[in-house]
Amino acid sequence: MNRHLLSAADLSRDDALLVLDTAAEMDVALAGRSIKKLPTLRGRTVVNLFFEDSTRTRTSFEVAAKRLSADVINFAAKGSSVSKGESLKDTALTLEAMGSDGVVIRHSASGAPHRLAHWIRGSVVNAGDGTHEHPTQALLDAYTIRRRTGRVEGLNIAIVGDVLHSRVARSNVLLLSTLGAEVTVVAPPTLLPVGVHSWPCAVSYDLDAVLPKSDAVMMLRVQHERMTGGFFPTVREYSRRYGLDAIRMASLPEDSIVMHPGPMNRGVEIAAEVADSVRSTIVEQVANGVSVRMAVLYLLLGGAMDGAAE
Ligand code: NCD
Repeated sequence: MNRHLLSAADLSRDDALLVLDTAAEMDVALAGRSIKKLPTLRGRTVVNLFFEDSTRTRTSFEVAAKRLSADVINFAAKGSSVSKGESLKDTALTLEAMGSDGVVIRHSASGAPHRLAHWIRGSVVNAGDGTHEHPTQALLDAYTIRRRTGRVEGLNIAIVGDVLHSRVARSNVLLLSTLGAEVTVVAPPTLLPVGVHSWPCAVSYDLDAVLPKSDAVMMLRVQHERMTGGFFPTVREYSRRYGLDAIRMASLPEDSIVMHPGPMNRGVEIAAEVADSVRSTIVEQVANGVSVRMAVLYLLLGGAMDGAAE
């Protein structure tokens, strides 16, 4: 494995499988314990550097690091010297001077984690950069698919909605194709990025045609905050053509699953009854996120797995 996790493309098939297998080991190691903590990263420091809002991802990394007994520093841009104009580089060097071994960064600028990786000695984990990538989300999605269906290889997986603004879609297309899945992105033409035809996936504008052969369908949030123009006529129109409601869900094969990275716009890209149905893995995805992030931190920061038995 590389020292950093910046893109899902950094992961070979073996690297990705190693993360998934390690996450499964973390689950097993914790399951038997009344105190949900392993001593693996004792004495290491992880900095959570979040320049953009987050509920799931920030707390998930925090829980993951704490379950491995690392010290965690949560740094939010609001309330720091960033609001006085301090640059990313100076902020990072300051945190490193305090002895951080790993930095988990979320930033609204695509590429910010790559810059950071040039400036600091510790490991950098990309927790979402602009519209670019979110590799640990893709890993937790792959882990969830594998736990529910037993495999990723050979499955048909549809990724549906605001692909244009979605770092989740980009990282998932890369990772799931590396793992041997057949991925199709489904969106109106206005919500597909230029160059999507060179991605390792098929492209469709027709959700109803794709659903009957999908083993997993991943719904994406309509990212209103990143939209500058009119990408579709009305929210109602979008939801009629690209939203997953109970009627559409009925056209999925019997054992297929419905995923969403959260936060959801219930009633827009996904109906409440679909989000809360037995096919939905949305809550499991959150739980699996902790195990997968434990695996990533452990593998990058070089914890001693033997310690897990202590
Ligand atoms: C996503 C994100 O922030 O990229 N959420 C997440 O990490 N669980 C997706 C989104 O914001 O729609």
